[in-house]
Amino acid sequence: MTSNEPVPPRRLPAWRALEDHARSVVHRTMRELFAGDPGRAERLTFEAAGLVLDASKNRVTDETIPLLCELARQADVRERAEAMFRGERINVTENRPVLHVALRAPRGSSILLDGADVVPDVHAVLDRMAAFSERVRSGEWIGHTGRPVHTVVNIGIGGSDLGPRMAARALTAYADGGPATRFVSNVDPTAFVEATRDLDPAETLFVVCSKSFTTLETLTNARTARGWLVGALGDDAAVARHFVAVSTNAEGVAEFGIDVGNMFGFWDWVGGRYSLASAVGLILMLAIGPARFREMLDGMHAMDDHFRAAPLERNLPALLALLGIWNANFLGAASHAVLPYDEYLALFPAYLQQLDMESNGKRVDLSGRPVETDTGPIVWGQPGTDGQHAFFQLLHQGTRLVPCDFLGFLETLNPVGNHHALLYSNLVAQTEALAFGKPAEEVAAEGVPPELVPHKSFPGNRPSNTILADRLTPWTLGALIGLYEHKVFVQGAVWGIDSFDQWGVELGKTLAARVASELDAPDEPVLRHDSSTNALIRRWRETRRRTR
Ligand code: F6P
Repeated sequence: MTSNEPVPPRRLPAWRALEDHARSVVHRTMRELFAGDPGRAERLTFEAAGLVLDASKNRVTDETIPLLCELARQADVRERAEAMFRGERINVTENRPVLHVALRAPRGSSILLDGADVVPDVHAVLDRMAAFSERVRSGEWIGHTGRPVHTVVNIGIGGSDLGPRMAARALTAYADGGPATRFVSNVDPTAFVEATRDLDPAETLFVVCSKSFTTLETLTNARTARGWLVGALGDDAAVARHFVAVSTNAEGVAEFGIDVGNMFGFWDWVGGRYSLASAVGLILMLAIGPARFREMLDGMHAMDDHFRAAPLERNLPALLALLGIWNANFLGAASHAVLPYDEYLALFPAYLQQLDMESNGKRVDLSGRPVETDTGPIVWGQPGTDGQHAFFQLLHQGTRLVPCDFLGFLETLNPVGNHHALLYSNLVAQTEALAFGKPAEEVAAEGVPPELVPHKSFPGNRPSNTILADRLTPWTLGALIGLYEHKVFVQGAVWGIDSFDQWGVELGKTLAARVASELDAPDEPVLRHDSSTNALIRRWRETRRRTR
């Protein structure tokens, strides 16, 4: 077997053993599994890098995890992870190494890529980012009219937006002394207009963040930003003090008109959705300062070390991944909910959607053969307790099985009255209600009229993971990000897919370019799409004609 030709996981003996095992487990309930086994929670709770994973509320017996770990072994997960850490070109369809782990490697350590150590380059960029951040934060970096920066606006999309946007929100409490932050991603003009409506151009710094520096949305927004700034300050020279770039494409940056001296680079071995620890995190560093940014990198690195060293049976990312595979491929779950019980993590589900779904939303394996199993689940979620009053009904009593990750902290950063105890009690209670439900007999015993008993009973047996840390800090956020990055890696490795390409986003981009030219064409274009697409284009042109 070559690394490009994985054995389809269904053909692995461990997969077949898990199918047999699932048949024996499917009728067992968590009520029964917990009853008479007081050590279950302890046995199925794991800790690493400041995080605790309680996996006991999954539909697993003592045989399940060893079988899942055997699946990982037979799928060569360890060997594949080592290939990543060694800088091999594991992103086979783009012929690229995948080395986001190098972005958080400590100074002085070494990761070789084609014989050259990349760690010094990583730290050289981090040092430049730190020096720049200090200048902006201290007010030493001044704008074109001599005023310091009050607000930084990140213009980017996908991985050049979701990571820094999520982390800036998550670490708001650590952003004292830094500039305010705004994010513009959508090409919808409303995004730019609303983000800048109340800003003073003389005190605004734009970070144009794009790995490729060719992304339509980002370049369109960046051009609009330049027009907004130059229009207000009346001088093209203002761009030099109000625009910096984050990219791997120095030529594109220069062509756009940003001085490459004001560019912070990274490398093609960093995937967009894995890039928060690179210069893509510049706006975050500006907000929280270099020391706290480095603390986040340390948390990521601690999780990298744990992932690399810990046995599969106690390896948090591997366990999370394998339990996800158990729920999806063996128990039939099609989606996965991520439910942070912390307002600061409000954007974490959106961030994970790209991380997970762009990585593992694949239908062919590494060698191009159609996969024989389902791959990445639909990832969704929003903070508790809001979700409880919206979609939790379906989680508890709907027909679909939705495994959930509950994320929470034992201490709040904003102690006010008993809010945090109420928040945490809701987290705990939801995991309990999902796992154990409320059987019809119990409901009937409460005197509920028989016709309402089916409506008021809860089947339970719905799996969840609980992931806790003491406090939300840059370090724990870093560990959490590393946890999910490696979870996604392990799942992709078991499914035998390329988790690091994203060809599925290309067709829409190409078609949009064609449609855009047809919308704009001065003469009525000959439309050669299907009847629906043609009509949608004509409707837009007609509206334009009427309103012009
Ligand atoms: O279109 C998808 C994508 O390529 C993502 O993978 C990426 O994070 C995003 O676009 C933005 O790309 P860039 O950073 O090159 O602008």
